[in-house]
Amino acid sequence: MARRKYVVGNWKMNGVTASIADAQAIFAAATEHPGVDVALCPPFTLIGAMVAAAPGAAVGGQDCHSATAGAFTGSVAAPMLADAGATLVIVGHSERREGCGERDADVRAKAEAGLGAGLSVILCVGEPREVRESGGAIDYVLAQIAGSVPEDFDATRLAIAYEPIWAIGTGLVPTVGDVAAMHGAIRGALTARFGGKAEDMRLLYGGSVNGENAAELLDAGDVDGALVGGASLTAAKFVPIVAAAAALR
Ligand code: 13P
Repeated sequence: MARRKYVVGNWKMNGVTASIADAQAIFAAATEHPGVDVALCPPFTLIGAMVAAAPGAAVGGQDCHSATAGAFTGSVAAPMLADAGATLVIVGHSERREGCGERDADVRAKAEAGLGAGLSVILCVGEPREVRESGGAIDYVLAQIAGSVPEDFDATRLAIAYEPIWAIGTGLVPTVGDVAAMHGAIRGALTARFGGKAEDMRLLYGGSVNGENAAELLDAGDVDGALVGGASLTAAKFVPIVAAAAALR
């Protein structure tokens, strides 16, 4: 089965009610590129409004708790995201691994919770700068994959996002060769563990993707799409990335 291109905006802690107009503009423009799956992950506070404003569009959360309910002040459970109309959730973003102390086992439990709630999951991995500089990036990321990818899942609903931490929000990007090498290594590890179904899993690149570099990055081997932060907040910046994905296939 051919993997469809997938371009996802992670709004991080950006966006208020007025920003729904940006989401509407993005989703409206995305309909011009029906060969690309487009999704936006706004802050929790905007999910319901975004779903209401863009019926049928793919809207997701940026995190979920591993439990389905309970005494976890400030957290949001995966079934709550689904109830709000979300169809996907990001787990294991480096800003949560680093900033909130999430370990691989936590990320795996969150991925299982998301899948269990019927959501698609984007599971993030990526190495810090010093690991890249010491030559250990592939080993580091494959260890994250081993520890955080669940054992049993529908491969069409679990995507991996490779986001080198040093490339996030910095304007720095790996070479196309380094992206292809990492994605090839991830695909290889997934195939070794899961067999043929790994072919159905989409591998996204994330970190300083913009309208200028998207075509090149998305064309790298084993790259099925992009997870975009800063350039996903407006249609003017995000739609060229979707168009670049559409032009590839
Ligand atoms: P930027 O596109 O702003 O570098 O962020 C990438 C990212 O972290 C997406 O999850």
